[in-house]
Amino acid sequence: MKIKGNVHYVGVNDRTKALFEGMWPLPYGVSYNSYLITDKKIALVDTVEVDFFERYLRNIRQVIGDRPIDYLIINHMEPDHSGSINLIRKYYPEITLVGNRKTFDFLTGFYGTAENCLVVCEGDVLSLGRHHLRFYMVPMVHWPETMVSFDETEGILFSGDAFGCFGALNGGVLDTSMDTTPYWSEMERYYSNIVGKYGSPVQKALQKLKGLEINVIASTHGPVWTEQISRVVTTYDRLSRYATEPGLVICYGSMYGHTGLMAEAIAEGASERGVKKIVMHDVTRANHSYIIADIFRYNGLAVGAPTYNGTLFPEMEALLGKIVSRDIKGRYLGYFGGCSWAGQAVKRIAEINERLKFEVVGTPVEIKHGVDSDSLEQCKILGRAMADKIMAD
Ligand code: FEO
Repeated sequence: MKIKGNVHYVGVNDRTKALFEGMWPLPYGVSYNSYLITDKKIALVDTVEVDFFERYLRNIRQVIGDRPIDYLIINHMEPDHSGSINLIRKYYPEITLVGNRKTFDFLTGFYGTAENCLVVCEGDVLSLGRHHLRFYMVPMVHWPETMVSFDETEGILFSGDAFGCFGALNGGVLDTSMDTTPYWSEMERYYSNIVGKYGSPVQKALQKLKGLEINVIASTHGPVWTEQISRVVTTYDRLSRYATEPGLVICYGSMYGHTGLMAEAIAEGASERGVKKIVMHDVTRANHSYIIADIFRYNGLAVGAPTYNGTLFPEMEALLGKIVSRDIKGRYLGYFGGCSWAGQAVKRIAEINERLKFEVVGTPVEIKHGVDSDSLEQCKILGRAMADKIMAD
């Protein structure tokens, strides 16, 4: 499939994997994008997960037949893109691998050798004939070795994971040949789940790439962007700044319904005061992938759960751990919890917030045994206090 000039898409769809990185659901699949530039020299940009190699090789041969490939550009070493490197070397033994010093450290560790390699540095250019690829280092977007390659001839940014999203490609590859509607929420989920911790490196990368005249963004996952580049860049900029819109995410765990009722009362209080975007998640039933995406979107977060085995309900502990590890900044936090004899849940949430550093709103509500009209009223008051902060932003 032609992208622009003599640049072709040779990637594959994965519609069988249930969980990306073993954790994140893929209801619409995922694509592993790879590109072939056919010039005097032929360059392959990134590869695909090894399970799909046969399909991948067929895609490559449909474009170049029996011609050899001169270069493999390795923008990123995570195995969903590097997994086919050894098989590519087997089928194209003369190929030169192009990466930076860190790339080849990873290459040796994952695949045993780093022979026939060309080391490139920031700003170096590789000429293929008419096409000139310039390399920019973008460490931690999303691994330390990550770089992007810019085809200065066609204005194509081979961006690695940057600007990627979940969702396999249903026939078309370019944004102009599809309805992109389903990809935007999958982009937010992909970013928040996979890249979410690295907001600062993403911001540095966006600054570095700002001056380039980009006609095409060719990332490693999802559509190839041409007409909607500005929306893609804006989305990544917003997410990497941890910027929000007014709204409240209420996450709760509940064994016998009491903390669940507290969550309902908080939602009622927030709604009374005008918050329209209220999302409620039972932390045991909702996949954390979707909860994290919502927390990236909205400025308010209420969390509550029972005490369990002398500490916080485990699924809530797990969720809060995922929020801590993503360095999410600047949310309003309300919290609540309960116990049957020795209350620890509320105390534990307060401890975790020492690392989150979210602004605590209102008074935390703690119940013993079950809810009553007084505790539910306290929850409503908490919901109202959160609404006032959320809507004032
Ligand atoms: Fe799609 Fe960081 O790999």
